[in-house]
Amino acid sequence: MGWKGLIEEYRELLPVDANTPVVSLNEGNTPLIFAPKISALINENANVFLKYEGLNPTGSFKDRGMTMAISKAKQAGAKAVMCASTGNTSASAAAYSARAGLKCIVLIPHGAIALGKLAQALIHGAEVLAIDGNFDLALELVREITDNYPVTLVNSLNPFRIEGQKTAAFEVCDSLGKAPDYLAIPVGNAGNITAYWKGFNQYKQSNKIVDLPVMLGFQAAGSAPIVNGAIVSDPKTIATAIKIGNPASWKSAEAARDESKGLINAVTDEEILQAYKLLAQAEGVFVEPASAASVAGIIKLAKAGYFKNKKKVNIVCVLTGHGLKDPDQAISSIKEPEYVSPVVEAILEKIKLD
Ligand code: F0G
Repeated sequence: MGWKGLIEEYRELLPVDANTPVVSLNEGNTPLIFAPKISALINENANVFLKYEGLNPTGSFKDRGMTMAISKAKQAGAKAVMCASTGNTSASAAAYSARAGLKCIVLIPHGAIALGKLAQALIHGAEVLAIDGNFDLALELVREITDNYPVTLVNSLNPFRIEGQKTAAFEVCDSLGKAPDYLAIPVGNAGNITAYWKGFNQYKQSNKIVDLPVMLGFQAAGSAPIVNGAIVSDPKTIATAIKIGNPASWKSAEAARDESKGLINAVTDEEILQAYKLLAQAEGVFVEPASAASVAGIIKLAKAGYFKNKKKVNIVCVLTGHGLKDPDQAISSIKEPEYVSPVVEAILEKIKLD
């Protein structure tokens, strides 16, 4: 029958019951891809793997949380759901709501979400409202509304979102046959690092793995509140997905960092864009800029000697969203196509074959 979506696959490890109306687009089961060139950049002992979450149905890891959040909202009799978003949550909420027959309302920071994501939310029929303000303000407003009116919050403050997202950790362990030594992940609102840490711990408690990974979180330097230890009131980064100055799951991200003896560091926009191009051009994997923060982060750590003198290590980089989400960034990161006369000689002159 093949893969039936993560609720069916991991049912015994999720808070669902026989009466939960499963709303699924067969999300999950994303590939763990070996990255030989990035491995070689780290050191001779490193095996780097890419958890390509951009291959989920709406192109990001959010679908893992959304299948749970929407199924549980439906079970509870909700008629409407609402979220604030830097783009991907809204795309996923819109798609799963369409499937479930729920009204979906999303609040986005005006002009600060990638075009592909906006298109997704709109085509799936969500009511999209843009505010003059950043993600943090949008989330504050959504929390106030969902606390006081009959509409269910589907941001990662909804515990079912974390429950769904933790299944990515299960899949990583199932693919490797154990936990990786290191798990590198972009950090925005900090729900995903929280979810992975929960998943690894649950797998250990279920005796499916013996060791836990060291968690390596990466924020964009211009919006790195956890790294700085202070709210960033005006966050800035080209990685719009993680342009967040006051993460909702701040405390649990710190817990994941500290309990795993890991770290949460910052990477600059320049480092993010270098990793973004490297992934596309050396490994053939197209991601959105925020996703490249995990790869930028391990490259930066390797340069600082972090992985030196270590025995053979497995490092998994979570690639959270697909590159097609943000086509503008791809086009502005490389040269625009050159014009050429439509004749063979002119083309041959340009391409310089041997
Ligand atoms: N990568 C991508 C592509 C994202 O869309 C997000 C979050 C993150 C990383 C960070 O994950 O928030 O769990 O730490 N996007 C949210 C959204 C905020 O609204 O789509 P996090």
